[in-house]
Amino acid sequence: MNEAVLLKDIVKVFPGTIANDHVTITIRKNSIHGIVGENGAGKTTLMKQLYGMYRPDGGEIWLNGKKATFHSPKDAISCRIGMVHQHFTLVNSMSVVENIILGRPVIKHGFVDIKKAKEEISQLCRKYNFEMDLDAKTEDLPVGLKQRVEILKALYLGADVLIMDEPTAVLTPQEITELFATLRSLRDLGASIILITHKLSEVIQLTDEVTVLRDGKVTGHVFTKDTNEQELARMMIGRGLQLHIDKQETKDGEKALCVKNIRCRNDDGIMVVDDVSFEVRYGEIVGIAGVQGNGQTELIEVISGMNQEYGGTVEIDGQGVPMKASPWQRRTMGLGHIPEDRQIQGSAPEATIEDNFLMTTYRKPEINYHSLISRKKAMGELEAMVGKFKIKIPGCKAKGSSLSGGNMQKLIFAREYNLNPKCLIAAQPTRGVDIGAMEFIHNRLVEMRDQGKAVLLVSNELSEIMLLSDRVLVMYEGKISGEVKSGELSEEKIGLLMAGITGEKEAQDVE
Ligand SMILES: Nc1ncnc2c1ncn2[C@@H]1O[C@H](COP(=O)(O)OP(=O)(O)OP(=O)(O)O)[C@@H](O)[C@H]1O
Ligand SMILES: [Mg+2]
Repeated sequence: MNEAVLLKDIVKVFPGTIANDHVTITIRKNSIHGIVGENGAGKTTLMKQLYGMYRPDGGEIWLNGKKATFHSPKDAISCRIGMVHQHFTLVNSMSVVENIILGRPVIKHGFVDIKKAKEEISQLCRKYNFEMDLDAKTEDLPVGLKQRVEILKALYLGADVLIMDEPTAVLTPQEITELFATLRSLRDLGASIILITHKLSEVIQLTDEVTVLRDGKVTGHVFTKDTNEQELARMMIGRGLQLHIDKQETKDGEKALCVKNIRCRNDDGIMVVDDVSFEVRYGEIVGIAGVQGNGQTELIEVISGMNQEYGGTVEIDGQGVPMKASPWQRRTMGLGHIPEDRQIQGSAPEATIEDNFLMTTYRKPEINYHSLISRKKAMGELEAMVGKFKIKIPGCKAKGSSLSGGNMQKLIFAREYNLNPKCLIAAQPTRGVDIGAMEFIHNRLVEMRDQGKAVLLVSNELSEIMLLSDRVLVMYEGKISGEVKSGELSEEKIGLLMAGITGEKEAQDVE
C-alpha cells in the first residue's frame, strides 16, 4: 500500500474560527507533499492534529491503513510521526545531543547513557550526510544548524512521516540547498514528507504533489509536474502573481537617516559591525542584502536603539541621536522599526491582540493625551489596520498566540505603518506572509517611498531586495562590501558581493 497517512474529513474549531473545515488529504510514501494556502488558511492547525498537539473536533486520522487516535505528541511520535515547527522548540542552554535525546533518552542503570546516544546519532548523521558537532551548545549554532538539530531529533525518534512547517523562512540560500538535499534523500529512503511553505518556487522544485487550503477547506490538489507557480498562485489567492511593481521617478531628497563609522561587538567580543557608513534619503528605498549573519541584525539593533553600546554616530532627520537614546526616543525623531524576529522582539504572545497593537501605538499623540490613553481611538485604528491589511484575527481580545504566523507578521507591519514614520526600517518585512500579503506589503513600502518617506529594507530574499530597492548595499563580514545603484542592479553583481568578492579581477577568477 502506498498510502502513509489519510486525514479524513478533519474538522477543527476555535472560538470564532473554523480552522479546518472537513479536510481530506492523502499523504503517500516516498513522496514530498506540499501544503500551501494563505495566512490563516489552517495549515499549521491541521499538522498539529496529525502530530497529536490538538484533538480534531471531527474526522479521522488513518496511518498505514489503520485508524489512529493521538492524545499527545508522544502518541504521534510512537507512530513514527515527526514535526519540525514553524518556530523552533530547542532548549538553547543544552548541547546538541541533549536536545536530540530529550524525547527518548537512552537509560542505563537509571542514568542517561550519553555515549550510547551519541553513537546512535553519529550513525544517523553518517546516513544522511549531516556534519554536526554533537557537543556544541545549541544557542551558538546558526539557524541552519539549529534546524538540522530539529530534523535529527525527529529522525532519532524514528520518524517516517516528517512534517516541516515553513522550514526555509529563516534559512540562507546555501542552507536551503542543503535542506532540500536532505529531504530528497529522506524521501528516496521511503519517508513521507509534508512541506508547508509560502515560496511557490520551492513547491515547484521540491514537491511531488500539492494540496491547496483556503479558509480551512481543501480547494485544490495537483501533481507538481502538471502545474506552475502562476497556476498555484491562482489556486491560492484567486489571481496570478504581480510580476513587477510601479514606482515613481526617484527624487533627490534630504538625508533621512545617516550612519557614520558604526562599530559594535557581539557578546563574545567579536567585531560584528565594522566601520559601516551610509545614508538613506527621503524618497528612496535602500536595500541591505547579504547572507544572514554578516552583521545586518546587529547594525539594525544599533540604529533602532536596541543596542546602545556602539561606536560611530546615527542621525535621524538631520539631528544627531545621543548614543543612549531609547528605541522610543528614536521613534519620536521619526524612525519606525519592523523587527526581524516577530516572536522575540516584535510581539507578546500572551498579551491580547489589542495590547500587541497598543504596544507602540499608545504613545501616538492622537491617542495619548497627557498620558490619558483613548482606547476607543486606538481600537478604531486597530480595526482600520486589520481591514486594510486583511489580517485574520479571532477577535481583538484573543491572545497574540492565537494568530497564525503570517497574520502576526502582518499585524506588526500594520502597527508600525500606522505610526506613519518618516523613515522606516523594515527588517524581513514579509517573512512568513502569504503571496497576496507579500504583494500588499511591497506596494505599501513603495507607496511610502513615493510619498517622500525613506525606507531601509533588510531582507534575506534577494528577489525582494531587487524588486523594491533604489540602491542596494551589500554586507559581508560586518562591512559594506559594495553598493549597487539602480540601473546597475543585477542578481549576479549582488551575489558576488554577498560572497565577499569585490574587485573585477576576483569576479573574473570566479567565472
Ligand atoms: N489557539 C488558537 N485559538 C484561536 N484561534 C486559533 C488558534 N490557533 C489558530 N487559530 C486560528 O485558526 C486559523 C488557522 O491558523 P493556522 O495557524 O493553522 O494558519 P496557517 O495556515 O498555518 O497560517 P500561516 O501561513 O500564517 O502560518 C487562524 O485564523 C488562526 O487565527
Ligand atoms: Mg502556520
